[in-house]
Amino acid sequence: MQRVENEIARLIKEINYDEVTRLFEMLLGGKRLRAKLILKIAASHKKAPLLAAIVELIHAASLLHDDVIDEATLRRGVASVNATDGSKTAVMFGDILYSKAFTELVSFDKEIAKIISSSVTALSKGEMMDVKMADNFNSDEEKYLEMLYLKTATLIEAAAQAAAILTGKNPEPYALYGRNLGLSFQIIDDILDITADSATLGKPSMNDFAEGKCTLPYIYLYKVLSDDEKERLVSLHAKALDEQETLWIKQKMQEHKTIEKSFELAQKLSNEAMITMKDDEQLVNILQTMIKRSY
Ligand code: FPP
Ligand code: MG
Repeated sequence: MQRVENEIARLIKEINYDEVTRLFEMLLGGKRLRAKLILKIAASHKKAPLLAAIVELIHAASLLHDDVIDEATLRRGVASVNATDGSKTAVMFGDILYSKAFTELVSFDKEIAKIISSSVTALSKGEMMDVKMADNFNSDEEKYLEMLYLKTATLIEAAAQAAAILTGKNPEPYALYGRNLGLSFQIIDDILDITADSATLGKPSMNDFAEGKCTLPYIYLYKVLSDDEKERLVSLHAKALDEQETLWIKQKMQEHKTIEKSFELAQKLSNEAMITMKDDEQLVNILQTMIKRSY
């Protein structure tokens, strides 16, 4: 992973603007899940660290823009760039990171460049769907999963697929692995928004529903509530909730086991990925660690 960090540092230096260097130093690297995946799949290839650095820059850019869109003041437990330096700076900084990533991407085979770049179109589409869907209470599970796939899973899927192509492996099982890892990762993120406290999350808890996002535990809950209760749940959508309202939602979720049901889907998706990658201990470990962070 040090090779990836070195590549990222080199690319930032090449941008040759002290303001960008300063802003980049403020960002926390995060889990570097996408980079780890690329290194594991294409371990021996000399361009794997560069590919990993490119994908991490794209991911960082998407989070900078996402925090502006979500008006989030915290990212990974520290103040977001839009909070410290304003939204204009966060947007421009994101533009610089992702265009630099694209400049580097053209040094790869066309097939790889196409997979990564079209995944950015997909994730941007997913973000737009996410924002649009938050306008109204959404109870459509399929629509929700389609948005999740685009917003979170496509870049992970593309990273795994591109890494496989780089080393001449069959990309199909890696694409499935990346897709299912991304989906179950996001479902668990949605669960943690409800079950974890704000100190653990590094952002306010129960924030998704207040932002208008009807995640799986809410969708499953809606399906099983009585008509009166359905009405109450919809009336609480996209609002700052008081303690009593939060408690009501949590109690209903407990009563109807909607967290467990959501977790079952995450588990089913990751099991499918584990079976596909059963001979690769490290890739199986990534999935197991990810699933474990939920409870
Ligand atoms: C986080 O979602 C957001 C994403 C995974 C994707 C955001 C994508 C864009 C803003 C498209 C623009 C892309 C580029 C490369 C400039 P979330 O809000 O559910 O998660 P969070 O809790 O981590 O904020
Ligand atoms: Mg966000």
